[in-house]
Amino acid sequence: MLRILRHRVALQRGKRFCSGEGSSSSKGSLPGASDNKSSQRGPVTFASLALMGVLGSGLLFYYNIEKEKKAERVASEVISVGKPDLGGPWSLVDQDGIPRTDASYKGSFTLVYFGFTFCPDICPSELVKVGNLMDELEKRKRFVRPIFISVDPSRDSVGQLKHYSQDFHKDIVYLTGTKEQVSKVTRAYRVYFSKANENVNDDEDYLVDHSIVLYLVSPTGEFLDFFTQKSLVKDIVARIEKHQIAFEKTAKPKQ
Ligand code: NI
Repeated sequence: MLRILRHRVALQRGKRFCSGEGSSSSKGSLPGASDNKSSQRGPVTFASLALMGVLGSGLLFYYNIEKEKKAERVASEVISVGKPDLGGPWSLVDQDGIPRTDASYKGSFTLVYFGFTFCPDICPSELVKVGNLMDELEKRKRFVRPIFISVDPSRDSVGQLKHYSQDFHKDIVYLTGTKEQVSKVTRAYRVYFSKANENVNDDEDYLVDHSIVLYLVSPTGEFLDFFTQKSLVKDIVARIEKHQIAFEKTAKPKQ
């Protein structure tokens, strides 16, 4: 069952949190109300947003937990069981400004994650987790290419990605693109993301909900497996290794 977790973050103008402890500062920055989307957002109401703004991050944290639980239930109901047909061609640009497509990574197992660099806590902790599993894989003489794809292309410029990349494992590739390019790749992976308030003319201060899933893709570009925020490093590593061994068997010519 593909379970997609979502989270909501609050950001303050000009502030960027690279580590887990940063989220406690994200109070009172919720801009306006996104009531135009409230029907699909479940429990988000103007009242709850206002209340969070007043009571600050403690409540925000609690609210996030409740929201994720709900999002998880909803996603479980919506997405069908079985091997989903995920992935497909895409075209983006990496943190060095080099154009990349899905074909750029054919031949390697990739681990694809969607997030945004202004994310205060969950994206950084997921990227730290990716770094840890890379270290574990290396001990087993295994490798995947981790790919971080921004769902926030208006703020995640090439330069921003380059700066962000310094905080995490050296093998992670960071990709961004135009809104259309990002939209195409997120559709291919059925990634949910949403800028919370499109109507606010404030380019630096907004919320983003997004799926928290690591997708394992084969060297031939096929979706193989996925891991959620709850997946442990040791379990992810074991499953990656299992997929790689299976792939090697099928790829090996018969003797
Ligand atoms: Ni995030």
